[in-house]
Amino acid sequence: ALFGAARRNSRGINMNISQSWNALEAELAPQLQRQWTAGPVIDGRRRDGRARPVICPWDTARNVGSVQFASAAQAREAIDALAAFRPTWNATPVDARAAILERLADLLERQRAELMALCTLEAGKTLQDGIDEVREAVDFCRYYAAQARQRLGRETLPGPTGERNELFHEGRGIFACVSPWNFPLAILLGQIAAALVSGNVVLAKPAEQTSLIAGRTLELMFEAGLPVQAIAMLPGDGAELGAVFCADPRVAGVCFTGSTDTARLINRALAGRDGPLATLIAETGGQNAMIVDSTALPEQVVKDAVASAFTSAGQRCSALRVLYVQDDIAERVIELLRGAMAELRVGPPDRRSSDVGPVIDAEACKALQAHVEHLRRDARMIAETPVPAGLRGHFIAPVAFEIPSIAALDKEHFGPVLHVVRYAAAELDRVVAAINDTGFGLTLGIHSRNEETARRIEALARVGNLYVNRNQIGAVVGVQPFGGCGLSGTGPKAGGPAYLMRFTQERTTTVNT
Ligand code: NAD
Ligand code: ALA
Repeated sequence: ALFGAARRNSRGINMNISQSWNALEAELAPQLQRQWTAGPVIDGRRRDGRARPVICPWDTARNVGSVQFASAAQAREAIDALAAFRPTWNATPVDARAAILERLADLLERQRAELMALCTLEAGKTLQDGIDEVREAVDFCRYYAAQARQRLGRETLPGPTGERNELFHEGRGIFACVSPWNFPLAILLGQIAAALVSGNVVLAKPAEQTSLIAGRTLELMFEAGLPVQAIAMLPGDGAELGAVFCADPRVAGVCFTGSTDTARLINRALAGRDGPLATLIAETGGQNAMIVDSTALPEQVVKDAVASAFTSAGQRCSALRVLYVQDDIAERVIELLRGAMAELRVGPPDRRSSDVGPVIDAEACKALQAHVEHLRRDARMIAETPVPAGLRGHFIAPVAFEIPSIAALDKEHFGPVLHVVRYAAAELDRVVAAINDTGFGLTLGIHSRNEETARRIEALARVGNLYVNRNQIGAVVGVQPFGGCGLSGTGPKAGGPAYLMRFTQERTTTVNT
């Protein structure tokens, strides 16, 4: 019942069905030629800011629009405006708030081609990733709307005769929603939808790299009927704006998705301020492994490992970084991995034929290149998928290296780099311990036909999302609630039944009748 019986996940589009693809391609073509603009929006009014061009990550000669970055003064102004509207929004019936999200979900589906084009042009997402991104955003809206209708009403609790006891939930106040570039629509909107529907007003801070998608999404929110005073959107520098909203005691909570380092900075800033204690929801990085024992099917392992490591150019927090393979089948798996990586197609993400697009920007490219150079010196290369000549973008060749242990990795390397480790059967518990010792706990894959082994790993592993005999990316809203533990986040899981409640304040009223 917690999962909202009336809700159904969005269907997306199957690009392999030619009729569906032809219709989508016709809609996409004009969108892929467009330019957009975005800037700070407070009380529904667009403000001026520091202008920056938006450069396409896979064609650096191409400008896809411009964004104006907000100032610290605008962040203060936004908080003043949100504080004034908070009581009105909190008093708006839950059904009315939920209905806005449901209308927004319909609008997102209607605007799918434009949103996909934005994901491709601004974030470098492949078309398949764009379809999945819109689907997930739609699912978040419908899921949180259903959850709100079901769970945020007044409940009468049992008590003594002559007394009425009621439990209800309300928004905590102003929520700052701080999102990453790698799910520039789905995570941006998942956070905002949950915060709004539970009665909070929202200060939205999208990632610097993906402000255009955020700006267009805000327009669709207003079109769906969201009062303009319920949200302010401030594209801009995270540290500069964060210094304002983390320090302001009127900001009741921060919902953050991004790197573990930034989550720590926000946590410290919130802890160091005066005023009420703040709520922090943080979903952060991972050092995700897959454990493959000798009973696994090598073909299936390689298919799932390649999808988990290289989809979205490895820029998913859920992506596979370290493939642990039992030594008995390691040679076979490595041979198949070489073959599968030779089939991968790196290329511009606006083509249906591209499996792997660019990484987000020059900085990411440089950091990944440095890591790969280091591996070239110290590790054995298994395979590298070449980047075709002539591309003018931030492309990194998908690559796999053999390393001795997950402990050899200094941090999360956020791109298409797979590390392979061999282990002996007797070492299984030590393998899980080494994975746990990273401190991260986001996704873990297991490939084994021995149920006892899978159960043993499940019991030992400290991890948020465990996948057995399949890939370990693409969690579906309401089906695989998503989120980690330890350095990977605080919970609650996005797209799960506990998520909304963290945005609310519980209250009880007792009346002597
Ligand atoms: P990031 O931490 O650099 O930035 C995330 C957001 O925080 C951006 O909007 C940025 O402007 C803002 N920010 C930066 N400094 C800030 C500060 N001092 N105060 C307030 N806000 C600040 O992360 P990123 O590079 O955009 O995203 C990639 C990271 O996100 C990876 O580590 C990935 O694993 C993680 N991620 C986690 C999940 C999850 O669900 N666990 C999902 C997606 C991405
Ligand atoms: N929810 C995203 C996935 O599972 C991060 O890949």
